[in-house]
Amino acid sequence: MDNKITGILSSEHQTVLKKLDKFETALQEKDLKTINEIINFFENKLILHRRKEEEYLFKELEKYEEIQAGPITCMLEEHKEEKELVSKLKNLIRTNPVKNTVEIQKTGLEIIHFLRNHIWKEDNVLFPLAEKTLSDEEKKRISVGFDSIGTCCEECCHNSKTQRRSS
Ligand SMILES: [Fe+2]
Repeated sequence: MDNKITGILSSEHQTVLKKLDKFETALQEKDLKTINEIINFFENKLILHRRKEEEYLFKELEKYEEIQAGPITCMLEEHKEEKELVSKLKNLIRTNPVKNTVEIQKTGLEIIHFLRNHIWKEDNVLFPLAEKTLSDEEKKRISVGFDSIGTCCEECCHNSKTQRRSS
């Protein structure tokens, strides 16, 4: 059995990081169409990634008190904060995209900075900790849960299958 349960999540992070680069350019160019596409990605695709983390990975990790008290609480707080920032950005665009240009750029950059940091923490702290801590049985349950949710993009799905084959 493939024991690396966080591989698909890291692969999805790579997709998100690419979107963030695109988002940064769109903000500089005041390209509202692309900005709206990215918001759409956050709301409709990234949510699948968040669900996998919150409903399965975090749920299993919560049983370990020291992980629940530190990293999980912190990551859940950050997921909440991210949603608030995206909804702030949406409101700015909806109310007056021309008048709010500076604020849109500021909030967009805040989201980019925030998510790059958040992804770094998950990839470099939480995921290695999860791989080390979780039992095979727990990983199996998480894997079944992940499969029931699906992935945020075809590319992530492909990368995950390749990883499974090579491990
Ligand atoms: Fe994540």
